Amino acid sequence: MPQADLVVVANRLPVDRIEGPDGEPQWRRSPGGLVTALEQVMQNIDGAWVGWGGKPDLDVEPFDLDGTLLVPVPLSRSDLRDYYEGFSNGTIWPLYHDVIATPEFKRSWWDAYVRVNRRFAEAAAEHVAEGGFVWVQDYQLQLVPQMLRELRPDVIIGYFHHIPFPAYALFQQLPWRRQVLEGLLGADVVGFQRVADAGNFQRSIRRLLSYPTKGDTIRVPTADDSHRLVVSKAYPISIDAKQFIELAQDPQVLARAKELREQVGSDKVLLGVDRLDYTKGIRHRLKAYGELLHDGRIKGHDATLVNVASPSRPGVEAYQDLRDEIEMTVARINGDYSTVENTAIRYLHQGFPREEMVALYLAADVMLITALRDGMNLVAKEYVAVRGDNTGVLVLSEFAGAADELGSALLINPHDIDGMKDAIMRALEMPPAEQARRMRTMRRKVLENDVEKWGALFLADVERIRAFRAGEEQAS
Ligand code: G6P
Repeated sequence: MPQADLVVVANRLPVDRIEGPDGEPQWRRSPGGLVTALEQVMQNIDGAWVGWGGKPDLDVEPFDLDGTLLVPVPLSRSDLRDYYEGFSNGTIWPLYHDVIATPEFKRSWWDAYVRVNRRFAEAAAEHVAEGGFVWVQDYQLQLVPQMLRELRPDVIIGYFHHIPFPAYALFQQLPWRRQVLEGLLGADVVGFQRVADAGNFQRSIRRLLSYPTKGDTIRVPTADDSHRLVVSKAYPISIDAKQFIELAQDPQVLARAKELREQVGSDKVLLGVDRLDYTKGIRHRLKAYGELLHDGRIKGHDATLVNVASPSRPGVEAYQDLRDEIEMTVARINGDYSTVENTAIRYLHQGFPREEMVALYLAADVMLITALRDGMNLVAKEYVAVRGDNTGVLVLSEFAGAADELGSALLINPHDIDGMKDAIMRALEMPPAEQARRMRTMRRKVLENDVEKWGALFLADVERIRAFRAGEEQAS
């Protein structure tokens, strides 16, 4: 088996297994943000990607896709229940998102998390070349860096955490808090979305492990009474801005945007786009919008809210409950305030191809991002990237990582319903000159700090570590 200089390890492979026209299974590229982000980094490199194939009990040999070796990691139904739905999405996800939902601490879930993390680490160890670089992604795999270091001390290991890292007072609740920190510290570079996340991580390290931290570095003691330096800092992830700008200029996409606009019919279009997740503040958004209709500040033909909530983690109870609640609320608001000609909320529980999303962004006067907690929120950056004529208003939660860069949005605290209502009205009434001023500033940021730059900044620190290690070896 050929070995790769760069191995990405993520919970999911960048492909979905689908049924081809002849009934034979086939792989199709999945359009997620991580995939496009890393696609750029993996170009021109001899790369491999280790991940789950998206279906239970799928045991397939590694295969090549456009020059990247894809290495499927099999997960059984019970692995999925205990490692994916359980520990990843029933313990870590709610704990790291400020306990918006209550995390459950189950020992059997933890055992599965350890077991499955080891499987990913072993697959990466098998496929990485001598002295290569392994880039581990996200909260499902926090133990992989340390496990991999034990198996392959020769490789450089990076870890990027796509979701928030919580304040110490919350992280402290985790019964396996030390093991998780030790797991992450197996990496040479540990990346976060926000400066605040890196700060929370370092504080937990100091409090729980008593390792000294200085600036961006942590001194981790090693078995030979020496120490290793781990870099831990913020690298805010982004989008392939050029690709979005190109799509926004595509005649078919433009025609579709016009068509959507005409079909919606109302004077203004507000848009919400999220996975159906309790972290996204969809309930708060609907509450604010429903009250604006109730108060008569928005009337019949004035506006429509198009709310896309793509299906997510349907096996987890909190997501099932959320769906019921949201669908009940949408039905009530529509029952009370729609007219035969105008629907108050167009609710879509579906995922759409990127072209359709860009057409929706182009059709929307106001984009509503109301997350109660969010690592970054790339939808905010996508909306800004496509608004080439500098029209449109972004209403953005302070609790999304994107708020650090997009300070010219109308920033809101989604817990403050009155404040959110006022921000929505301000967005609907904003004069074009103010829209342009704000949008121009935000577009500059998004175009400058695109995903290519994100990858380059992370890899520059990886090289720094590599050089440091080489220097140490020479000295010894
Ligand atoms: C978030 C996480 C990703 C995850 C994605 C979709 O963005 O940070 O790691 O892949 O949600 O969730 P899913 O559970 O469907 O993979």
